[in-house]
This record gives sequence, C-alpha cells and structure tokens, in this order.
Amino acid sequence: MQEASAAITAERKHSHVDICLNRPVCFDGQDTGLDSWRFEHNATPEVDFAQIDLSAEFLGHAIGLPLMISSMTGGYGNALALNRALGEAAERFRIPLGVGSMRQALEGSSHRESFSVVRSSAPSVPIFANIGAPEVAAGLSRDQLSTLIDLIEADGLIVHLNPAQELFQPEGGTDFSGFLDRLHDITATIGVPVIAKEVGCGISATVARKLADAGVRAIDVAGAGGISWQKVEECRYLDRFGHEERFSPSALDEFLNWGIPTAECLTSIQTLKRQNPEYGALSVISSGGIRNGLDIAKSIALGADIAASAQHLLKALHSVTLEKTIRTWANDLRAAMFLTGSATIEQLKHARIYRKP
Ligand SMILES: Cc1cc2nc3c(=O)[nH]c(=O)nc-3n(C[C@H](O)[C@H](O)[C@H](O)COP(=O)(O)O)c2cc1C
Repeated sequence: MQEASAAITAERKHSHVDICLNRPVCFDGQDTGLDSWRFEHNATPEVDFAQIDLSAEFLGHAIGLPLMISSMTGGYGNALALNRALGEAAERFRIPLGVGSMRQALEGSSHRESFSVVRSSAPSVPIFANIGAPEVAAGLSRDQLSTLIDLIEADGLIVHLNPAQELFQPEGGTDFSGFLDRLHDITATIGVPVIAKEVGCGISATVARKLADAGVRAIDVAGAGGISWQKVEECRYLDRFGHEERFSPSALDEFLNWGIPTAECLTSIQTLKRQNPEYGALSVISSGGIRNGLDIAKSIALGADIAASAQHLLKALHSVTLEKTIRTWANDLRAAMFLTGSATIEQLKHARIYRKP
C-alpha cells in the first residue's frame, strides 16, 4: 500500500517537471510586481566595481551570492541526474539548495539516491529537506522527521504551504486543519531551522507572523508572478479526465491566477518586521518569478535576505546553460549594486528604491 502511494507520488513528481518545462503554466495578467519598483540611480557610487562583494549570510551559513536553488524534485528515476546537476551548480557557486518534496521517501524506499545525491554533489553548501503542509497537518513521527533530515544530511527543513495547488491537484490533500500546532511541535523538537514556503501564491504578513509564532526561522514568500501551480495541476487534471469542469468558468481564470505578487509579499513582511522588533530576526527569501539579477537586487532592497528560483533554473539546466545563467544573474546583481553605490549585500539592503510613478 505504501509502495503503491510511493509510485503515484513518483509519477506526479515526474509529470511536474515535464509540465513546467513544456506547458504554458505561468500566471496570466499577474506579474511579480518587481517591475513596478525602480532603484534611485547613484551618479557618485564611491564603489570599485571590481571589489563588489556578493557574498551573503543565510541562517548562519556563509554563501557565495544571495541566491538559492528552490525545492524541485527527487523520488523518481530521472530525478537523480537532475538533482546531481543542481547540486553541482550549488556547490560551484556556494549557494543553498532545496530538494523537492520528500513524501515519496517516506512512502517507500525506492529512488532514495535521487535525494541523497544532492549531498554527495554539494558537500559544503546548505541543503534543505522538504515536506508538504498536508503531511505536517496529518502528523509526522520522530522517525519520519529523522528520515527527511538524515537522508540528505540536511541543514534545515522546508515545509511547503500549497493549499491552492492541493485544491487543483487530482489527488490533492486538502485537510490543513491543525497545521500550525503540528508545525510548532516540529520546530520545537527537530533541532534544525525550519523554513516555510509557498509555491507560487505568496505569503502575507499576517501568515508570516503566525508562522514565526510557530517557530519558523525563515519565510520563502514564493509569490505570484512565476509558475501557477493551479495551472500545473489543471494540466494534469485535464490530461487525466478531459474537460470535465470543477470550477465555474467565470471563476476559473481568477483561481488559476490566484495569489499575492512577490513584491507585495516582500513589502508587507518588511513592514511587519520594522514595526515589530520581535520578528526582526525572521529571514526572508524572495521567490516566485525571479528572472534575473536585477530581480534579486530589488528583492533585497525590498527586505529579502536572499532570492530563490525554480522554473528559470530548471529551464536553464535543460538548455545546458545553468551555470551561465547563474553567472549572468550574479553580474546583473553586481551592476545593480554598483549603480546604487552598494559595495556589499548589507549595503544593498539600504539602497534607495521607490515605486515607479
Ligand atoms: C518542477 C518543479 C517542481 C517543484 N516541486 C516542489 C516541491 O516538491 N516542493 C516545494 O516546496 N516546491 C516545489 N516547487 C515550487 C518551487 O520551489 C517554487 O516555489 C515555485 O515554482 C515558484 O518559483 P519560480 O517562479 O521560480 O518557479 C517546484 C517547482 C518546479 C518548477
């Protein structure tokens, strides 16, 4: 029974990669909001471009640049090569990496190497385990939590919050009741930092506060503007069941494009942190539609500690340009730092940025 669930989960993880690479699943009429922001140009930067320092700190780890490879995959045959390549890129740039949901590894013992390969290919960077809110709400035993952490020698656990995705998923788990209490139990006992992330609908300041109260150390906003996971699951639903409608046509578009744009999540959490010093230590990751190094720079000026990307890096990996993409993003980031007079990531956090008129 458990092995049968593992096979279904493996099939789902495989189809997610295929759909994200080949189908039109980005938000429509909804962008990240980052294009609405502009840095104030600094005509006297007083910075040597060649000396700009992109290194950053994330949850106590020194990293090469403020970028993370977002949680994506694991748990089926081809995921091994994918995760190995992502791990090698993470190691080369000294950036953190999250593996995809490890539910499959809790359900069965096949394909475990598709997760553990990440640690062997990225021995010295922070790596994060991943599990979904429905599994947390249902309750995870101590042994299950140990499996998640030990399999990849994880530096922390990412819990993904994906109610809209589960709602659209043909076999989705939609019982989120009791989640925050269970999350609190985990953060109190697990012994490594816990990060809460969305998958593309964003995290509001109200939710960020509840997550921080439950002991979460970092929030990955994963806002609207990149992949719509409602659309990904709608593709799987239509592939399986044809055109049977679950939502009324007049509401469907809005649900498919449901979510808080990434920039809006960042500014509201920044305000929460500024107005409430008790949340000041909460780390923030900007993700959901990050397309270049300027998006990373704007994210940091809007309150993020680092940015993260999934779909763009996955596509780059498949066109054999992953390392070139990360290098280009690093260069964009360096350019934005030069033109705002920021010699370090800490200084970039204070760069002047304003909403375009
Ligand atoms: C192929 C693929 C699989 C993903 N699987 C997971 C997952 O297992 N767990 C998770 O937390 N997020 C998962 N995500 C979501 C990403 O981590 C990210 O939050 C989301 O795609 C928004 O970022 P983006 O716009 O840069 O893609 C996945 C994304 C992709 C592209």
